[in-house]
Amino acid sequence: KVNSILADIEQQFTLDENDLISITRHFHQLFNLGLGEYNQPMAMIPTFVTGVPDGTETGTFLSLDLGGTNLRVCHVQFHGNQTFTLKQKKYQVSEALKTGEATVLFDYLADSVDAFLTSTEAEAEAEVPQQGALRQNPFDEDPPAVPLGLTFSFPVEQTAIDEGYLLTWTKGFAAKNAVGKDIVKLLQDAFGRKHLHVKCVALVNDTVGAALSRAYTSGGCVLGAIFGTGTNGAYLEQVANITKLGNNAPATAGGVMMVNTEWGAFDNARVVLPSTPFDNKVDRESINPRFQAYEKFISGMYLGEITRNILLALVDAAPKPILFGGKATAHLNKHYGLDTEMLSLVESAWGGDADAASDADDVKLRNFSAPLEEGALAPVTLQRLKRTQEVVQKHLGYEPGEVSLRDAALVRWIGALVVRRAARLSACAVATVAIQMGFVTGVGKEVRPAEAAAAPGKSYSIGIDGSLYQHYPGFEERMREALRVLLSEEVEKKVEMGLAKDGSGVGGEPFVL
Ligand code: BG6
Ligand code: GLC
Repeated sequence: KVNSILADIEQQFTLDENDLISITRHFHQLFNLGLGEYNQPMAMIPTFVTGVPDGTETGTFLSLDLGGTNLRVCHVQFHGNQTFTLKQKKYQVSEALKTGEATVLFDYLADSVDAFLTSTEAEAEAEVPQQGALRQNPFDEDPPAVPLGLTFSFPVEQTAIDEGYLLTWTKGFAAKNAVGKDIVKLLQDAFGRKHLHVKCVALVNDTVGAALSRAYTSGGCVLGAIFGTGTNGAYLEQVANITKLGNNAPATAGGVMMVNTEWGAFDNARVVLPSTPFDNKVDRESINPRFQAYEKFISGMYLGEITRNILLALVDAAPKPILFGGKATAHLNKHYGLDTEMLSLVESAWGGDADAASDADDVKLRNFSAPLEEGALAPVTLQRLKRTQEVVQKHLGYEPGEVSLRDAALVRWIGALVVRRAARLSACAVATVAIQMGFVTGVGKEVRPAEAAAAPGKSYSIGIDGSLYQHYPGFEERMREALRVLLSEEVEKKVEMGLAKDGSGVGGEPFVL
């Protein structure tokens, strides 16, 4: 019975080749719908960023970054040889700020910039933009205002590089009186209220930041992707394909523009997404039911919550509990009480040793209806399990002795199922961009992936940021597994992925104008 309950969960969370292909096809269709029409859930937003840096740019800039795990103010110095130096301070954004009046939130942003400038005053005098230190002084003011790039990681319909209207909040934010407003103006007004001599000159999404920062440090990048609190991607599209721009299409030198896909809203209609009852519960109880459907299967904000729902179902299993002897802790009972960080810690504890469990141990670990005997396991397996047990106990708030080795093995197994599904779904977005950009030939509506080939002479370089990608061991490899299915092994080998660390601090800088 236990094994069949778990086999059922495993089956619900497993995506086979056909699932991956049909999700990717649907993705490709919705990409093109969004490029052709405004007001689509997957918004495919033109960013007015029409090129990427190559690492030769120099200058010293300030940036402000809202929307990830932390609010950050950064001071970045670009050395012009593909390197930069970054100083930053992180600030917390409370739930009250996330859901209160927008002016209060933007006042807090302005205060954070003020605090940053004040606390680094000595250094700032030497390094924060002085006239002449900038590539150019964009203001006719004396003394010039400090230019600031804003990385704002939410869907914003951009009308210019320094103007954009919030379409909707995501990731648990719901500040009032911000949707429909120009974000740059909201920030600029707050600087005004605080008498800060700072001018917001560029507005970018974190995905664009990731792409630009990766391009700066590695000389090229066509897709910036985030797998963190939320998920999203921005890629270089032919302006001619962004047909909804109509007469507003700018004439650009290379004929390209970065498009912020907002792929977190892929398939809000849930036509192809593999919803389980656990996912439906997460969605129903979220701040934005029926929105950001894809993001809710993938990103750090939700993976812990999906896992919590599964663990609770096993704690409550009838006729006999399957987990923790039927006891749930306050953490486990609390909405969002299981942080996705725990999944990364569990997986690290589990995989911390180079040696994997032996086949014999694997069989014992997989037979969930039998107790795990310490003496029957190889020492290395036991060590891994004990480390996992410790993490589970500590992070879920159990007393010593309340988490068995079997419990630890189960929690790790469930976490890995949830994250593996997330990584495979993520690959569908990455594959769609590859197809859309023409990096792959032979993948079309009727063609099987086995016939795919890399288009000659093109490299597919992706800058990635986000806590899930950075901290969950093996996230990239799981994604690559699915890319091999979707794009063929040959093409997958040519996909270059690299961390675009601090992308949002670096990528939002004015020199990208
Ligand atoms: C950070 C960026 O490096 O990565 C953020 O500064 C971005 O703007 C973030 O949103 C994504 O990761 P996370 O895990 O913080 O959401
Ligand atoms: C959410 C936001 C998007 C952002 C992503 C990653 O999906 O809507 O703008 O890029 O999170 O932070």
